[in-house]
Amino acid sequence: MLITNIKGLVGIHPKDKLVLRGSELDDLPVIENAWLLIEDDLIKDFGEMGSIPSQISNLPSQISAKGRYVFPSWCDSHTHIVFAATREEEFAMKIQGKSYEEIAAAGGGILNSANKLQKATEDELFESASIRLKQMILQGTGAVEIKSGYGLTTASEIKMLRVISRLKNHFPIPIKATFLAAHAFPAEFKNDHHGYINLIINEMLPRIAEENLADYIDAFCEKGFFSVGETDQILKAGAKYGLKPKIHANQLSVSGAIEVAVKNNAISVDHLEESNKETIDTLRNADTIVTLLPSCSFYLGIPFADAKSFIKADLPVALATDYNPGSTPSGNMNFVVSLGCIKMKMFPEQAINAATLNGAAAMEISESYGSVALGKKQIYLSQNQCHQ
Ligand code: NIG
Ligand code: FE
Repeated sequence: MLITNIKGLVGIHPKDKLVLRGSELDDLPVIENAWLLIEDDLIKDFGEMGSIPSQISNLPSQISAKGRYVFPSWCDSHTHIVFAATREEEFAMKIQGKSYEEIAAAGGGILNSANKLQKATEDELFESASIRLKQMILQGTGAVEIKSGYGLTTASEIKMLRVISRLKNHFPIPIKATFLAAHAFPAEFKNDHHGYINLIINEMLPRIAEENLADYIDAFCEKGFFSVGETDQILKAGAKYGLKPKIHANQLSVSGAIEVAVKNNAISVDHLEESNKETIDTLRNADTIVTLLPSCSFYLGIPFADAKSFIKADLPVALATDYNPGSTPSGNMNFVVSLGCIKMKMFPEQAINAATLNGAAAMEISESYGSVALGKKQIYLSQNQCHQ
């Protein structure tokens, strides 16, 4: 398939460029007035319209981009799209002045979602997550990470991960699964943290590993949720099964999450709405990706992460949605990129790179996704939508 008359072919990085750090994010190479050739789902060639080889210019399978831009698709490396019901009632509570922590402490938040998910069947969860994922794909997303974490019992965490596994088989895009039983302490373990951590380590993890249901492990390391010591214990247990960490860190406070994540070789630390000089210093010498989630700040009314300082410190910044039923009811990466620019003052080049190549890197798929380069993957969805 040949795409012609492309106003701008965006995100042409060398194929061996797998992640962009600091000022590298400023550079978003574009070919103006371009063509792109796809063969066997791979990018075969591209160039300027003036130099299109005559042997391909009359290929039967052609579409004209009619002067539009062609982008690598968005790589959304942080979502919670398997859930049973949205929680709009909590938005009303927030408007009345309740904080995220207060709503959670009153049995709302994650525990509210867990109650609802425990009652839903695997088929129901698959159907509703499929609808969300289709909508995200229509909005330009071509790779996603999806977390468990609304199960909080062995049976329900496995139910969620099986749904993610079915989504992997059903959709033509790469999907990564993250095990997040350490999302909140269930009510019955409120005063028995040791008991729940035991359950995660000795019951859930072996079952999940046996069924090969997860690629990564996550924990919500935060005051009122999982402490640094508890997070460390869980990450170490996950490592025994080959699960690398992707951590919810510094969303509501500077909690020590970054240090424990880096110590456990985390692929990414996500959120970082709250951070200070130590946060940045800890990340400076690590390969850990800093994944920022500006839609979460927008909906919760919490501070936006300091993207500029992370970039200035030469860190690899990625952008993702955090799509979930509570804090962030949106899977729209276009909105994320806009917020990155408007609220976090990222330059458009930085935000687009962060939402494509660095998002792919945060899912360890940037060898095949996230930029336009020879041999990278193309996902052809319909006559009207082409996603790399
Ligand atoms: O990333 N902070 C923890 N987890 C989600 C929110 C989950 C929820 O509110 O349901 C987040 O914002
Ligand atoms: Fe999240």
